Amino acid sequence: MSQIIAIANQKGGTGKSTTAVHLAYYLAIKKGYSTLLVDADSQTSSSQWINNLEKPIAFKVIHEKDELFKEMPKLAKQYDYLIVDGPAGRLDDETKAILAWANLVLVPIQPKVLDLSSTLKAVLLINQAQEIREGLPKGALFLNRAKQGTRLKDEATRFLRTVPGVISLKTIIHDREVIADVPGQNITVWTMTGRPAAEARREYTQLFNEILDLLKI
Ligand SMILES: Nc1ncnc2c1ncn2[C@@H]1O[C@H](COP(=O)(O)OP(=O)(O)O)[C@@H](O)[C@H]1O
Ligand SMILES: [Mg+2]
Repeated sequence: MSQIIAIANQKGGTGKSTTAVHLAYYLAIKKGYSTLLVDADSQTSSSQWINNLEKPIAFKVIHEKDELFKEMPKLAKQYDYLIVDGPAGRLDDETKAILAWANLVLVPIQPKVLDLSSTLKAVLLINQAQEIREGLPKGALFLNRAKQGTRLKDEATRFLRTVPGVISLKTIIHDREVIADVPGQNITVWTMTGRPAAEARREYTQLFNEILDLLKI
């Protein structure tokens, strides 16, 4: 059965595109699933990155809300997984079209005060969709770009646990230079050598397995 996983957060720069590309790579290349990345962000950063990878992964750019609404279920029938890189900014209608079809919404959050309040905006849209769709999509929040041993990271972890109607994931993706560097080299952390890349791979693998487990429930 095909699954639609959306990466959403109206706040820009939280790591949606980075997470979307790594998740699409993990599912397509490491796990061998037929996977399509849908780039719904007008900056098209994830589709350009995917397009430049050594190993081909299918992608489609769709920005317009009605087209997203119409195409997502059709595309889902053709793939095991659809990974939707959501838009940033005031694009609630596009986000709502995505939430109308997604099985799971993954929300990357940076442990910063402003980012935590914008989290609640994303969660509100998820909760509204859940009311209409009898509990779907599942919402899963995780900390991205967390700094080891900081008070903010601990405070943010506690805060995420208090957000209603969504799951706070155990895995934390830390702020890692290697993750910031890979798009410029048209690769993912899976094709990078060295210990920092191995640590980033370990975190991403744990995060993705955590969400794949949620989809089985
Ligand atoms: N875990 C991380 N560690 C270091 N840099 C990161 C991490 N996640 C994302 N970044 C960097 O943060 C910036 C914003 O990430 P991006 O994925 O483009 O966010 P969004 O798509 O939500 O706007 C990019 O420069 C990206 O390389
Ligand atoms: Mg982006």
